[in-house]
Amino acid sequence: MTTGHNVYLLPQTDQLRAMHTVIRDKDCSREDFVFYARRVIRLLLEAGMDLLPFTKKEVITPLGTTFHGLEFASKLCAVPVIRAGEAMEGELRDVHPGIRVGKILIQRDKETKLPRLYYKHLPDDIAERHVLLLEPMLATAGSALAAIDVLRESGVAEDRIIMVNFLSSPEGLRRVATERPRVRIVTSAIEERLNEHAFMVPGIGDFGDRFFGTTDSGAKK
Ligand code: PRP
Repeated sequence: MTTGHNVYLLPQTDQLRAMHTVIRDKDCSREDFVFYARRVIRLLLEAGMDLLPFTKKEVITPLGTTFHGLEFASKLCAVPVIRAGEAMEGELRDVHPGIRVGKILIQRDKETKLPRLYYKHLPDDIAERHVLLLEPMLATAGSALAAIDVLRESGVAEDRIIMVNFLSSPEGLRRVATERPRVRIVTSAIEERLNEHAFMVPGIGDFGDRFFGTTDSGAKK
């Protein structure tokens, strides 16, 4: 599953490829897009939480015997990068109902593709927490690096940041690895490349548009 010291690619099973086949199809209905995207997001969140620290814990089973188990050893929070990152919140709350959630709003300029921070609101004690940074698309990595900077300015150590990402470009992964080498990234696919418009190919279109139904065909962007 590991493809570089900071990148954790989900096992590329036939089932995962079949789900990607549905959601990458430009003619996929919104209902199918949301359903299968959420199934992949669940796998990504589980893989992200596998990277958190655990300590030993023993419990007594109903048979009166000892089970030598583990429990999560740190405080956790999640920070979706609005807007597309919010697509991951539903599954997150299913697997971790009480989790604290901060928000960062970053948008790429339509022409320059450079990210701009509009808003942030994070838990007061975020510096003591591990952070699941929810950012489905890693293209040039500008947005992801801007979000990581916001977390670092709030006192979060790089090695406490786990980015939960749906689709990544080789260029974007390299850039994060170079500039923020201790941030870990869980992804379900690594694309061939970025095109001249800074979109990933073969790609998935505009994830936020397709998930939230903003346009009739976010895929055509
Ligand atoms: C998209 C996407 C990522 C970003 C990735 O956001 O959701 O946040 O671009 O590109 P990058 O790696 O080159 O920065 P966009 O600004 O289009 O906003 P959205 O979340 O509303 O779709």
